[in-house]
Amino acid sequence: MLALGMLKQVASVTAQTKASSCWKLVLPLRFLGSAPDRFPQDAKLHSTSFSEAEPPRVLITGGLGQLGVGLASLLRKRFGKDNVILSDIKKPPAHVFHSGPFVYADILDDKKLHEIVVNHRISWLFHYSALLSAVGEANVALARDVNITGLHNILDVAAEHNVRLFVPSTIGAFGPTSPQNPAPDLCIQRPRTIYGVSKVHAELMGEYYYYRYGLDFRCLRYPGIISADSQPGGGTTDYAVQIFQAAVKNGTFECNLEANTRLPMMYINDCLRATLEVMEAPAERLSMRTYNISAMSFTPEELAQALRKHVPDFQITYCVDPLRQAIAESWPMSLDDSNARKDWGWNHDFDLPELVATMINFHGARTRITQAN
Ligand SMILES: NC(=O)c1ccc[n+]([C@@H]2O[C@H](COP(=O)([O-])OP(=O)(O)OC[C@H]3O[C@@H](n4cnc5c(N)ncnc54)[C@H](O)[C@@H]3O)[C@@H](O)[C@H]2O)c1
Repeated sequence: MLALGMLKQVASVTAQTKASSCWKLVLPLRFLGSAPDRFPQDAKLHSTSFSEAEPPRVLITGGLGQLGVGLASLLRKRFGKDNVILSDIKKPPAHVFHSGPFVYADILDDKKLHEIVVNHRISWLFHYSALLSAVGEANVALARDVNITGLHNILDVAAEHNVRLFVPSTIGAFGPTSPQNPAPDLCIQRPRTIYGVSKVHAELMGEYYYYRYGLDFRCLRYPGIISADSQPGGGTTDYAVQIFQAAVKNGTFECNLEANTRLPMMYINDCLRATLEVMEAPAERLSMRTYNISAMSFTPEELAQALRKHVPDFQITYCVDPLRQAIAESWPMSLDDSNARKDWGWNHDFDLPELVATMINFHGARTRITQAN
């Protein structure tokens, strides 16, 4: 009877959400709250202005990894330096510490998370803490704790305090039985890594909290992200970041994936802009809670060829890591992101030639500066 009652309540929440956005009527009391309308009804993507509205107060977890510092920088330009708090369990380098607010936050410490959200009046949370694919396979118990228990803490704190929540998912949330080229938003997802399993769990739990408690959960499945000034954190697509520095410095690179392994990739600026855009999108534009986003797909050999346009003598050799190769082969070669493009106007700026030119310029300039010193 209890289960039947709960199911009826969920159906009622869903129906009311769709019909009149009156879900609060059936929520448990502790989740009731009044979210101020931060955006005008007719707010357009790319053009939402915060000059007249109160900007969100933002917390980024796991912010000292490959993506968090760049996200903080983008959000601080948009919402003001002091409105964006970076957090992690690592000690920040001086330039990060002095660039804006930073706090220690272990996502396994739920009391501390509540304290931060309450004390800093957080209204948006970007949950970046995670153990990535290769690191997760090397330490499954820790990956389970951080990626699953940690996510539960984040979901509860966001629902309790009426916080809009972004959680990134990944191409790793697909598996060998998913359509490979391209993988659509909705399809079979049977990943074979703890990382992928935890991200499918995050997608489903976020969607469940949305229907059950009205949590404003938003999620993008990122491809492999390529950045110039931050190091990757132990994923399967890391080679596509490391190759550029090696090409400029040594003219050679030893790749840990096979030459013909095709994977979806994206330049970091596109990834971070997509993240901000989906968070700013008016709720009525979102027909789903989890979207694929995509920009380009390439193999190590194709990337090496594109690199030779800038470094003609560049040599790539292969020393395949069986763990990473098996993971890569279970992932899709490309993503279908047509729903993101249709619903909230997603569009990437960087294709392979622009990506390679940008990365080579960055590392070339850095090498020249180092040599001059
Ligand atoms: N980088 C990519 O190519 C990529 C692709 C798809 C999805 N993502 C997702 O984007 C997010 C950010 O990725 P990233 O590349 O910056 O990751 P990263 O591995 O570089 O950084 C993750 C951060 O989480 C922190 N962390 C670990 N345990 C923690 C804990 N208990 N409490 C708080 N923080 C903890 C680490 O200290 C680290 O700084 C992750 O959720 C990842 O799954 C990244």
